Amino acid sequence: MNSIYGTHRPELERTQDFLIDQIEAIRSEAKDRTGQDPIEHLLCRLKSEESMREKCVRKGLPETPESALNLIFDAIGIRIVCSFINDVYMIRDRIAALPGCRIIKEKDYIRKAKPNGYRSYHMIIQTDSGIYAEIQLRTISMDTWAALEHHMKYKKKLNGNLELLTSELKRCADELASTDLSMQTLHDLIYDEGETTP
Ligand code: GTP
Ligand code: MG
Repeated sequence: MNSIYGTHRPELERTQDFLIDQIEAIRSEAKDRTGQDPIEHLLCRLKSEESMREKCVRKGLPETPESALNLIFDAIGIRIVCSFINDVYMIRDRIAALPGCRIIKEKDYIRKAKPNGYRSYHMIIQTDSGIYAEIQLRTISMDTWAALEHHMKYKKKLNGNLELLTSELKRCADELASTDLSMQTLHDLIYDEGETTP
């Protein structure tokens, strides 16, 4: 079977490398400026043939390169996990200012969490070469929660307890969000002190 990406896979790989280079540059600039790494870890993936085809079917689109490249925006997926919330927004602003790409769509699931408790900052961007990418920015806590919630979604056995589980997961998400705020406050106290102490 032909690739869902047609002959465009090398172009996708080049775009992915370009974006990672740009993000690494943002990262080292921030490191030089503050002495701290704003990124805890960084992941990047090209959506597999199988899940791209599955997504086309789910969206009622034909399984073609046109759908995969121009109608679905997350063939390239980048996840940036930060230690602190302020870093999430700092990196968002730097990405928004990058030459060579523009923002198509943004969703702030941090200020407005999804009803299940999911939090992250999502951006769809498009590079000058016309390729789209989805960037997810989140804190370590948000990432931990999303990973656990993702596992649970696929555990069909949990049926009987679904309501309780859903509300407990939501409670955990809210507790983690409040911890993130406390951690940011602690961070600011420590580092602002550091700057004023002789
Ligand atoms: P698609 O889901 O890509 O069709 O588009 P959408 O418009 O619903 O995008 P959205 O920004 O809501 O989600 C895109 C991606 O974010 C998903 O593929 C997941 O990686 C992540 N995501 C969104 N919601 C959740 C959630 O409730 N739990 C977890 N674990 N991940 C989520
Ligand atoms: Mg979705």
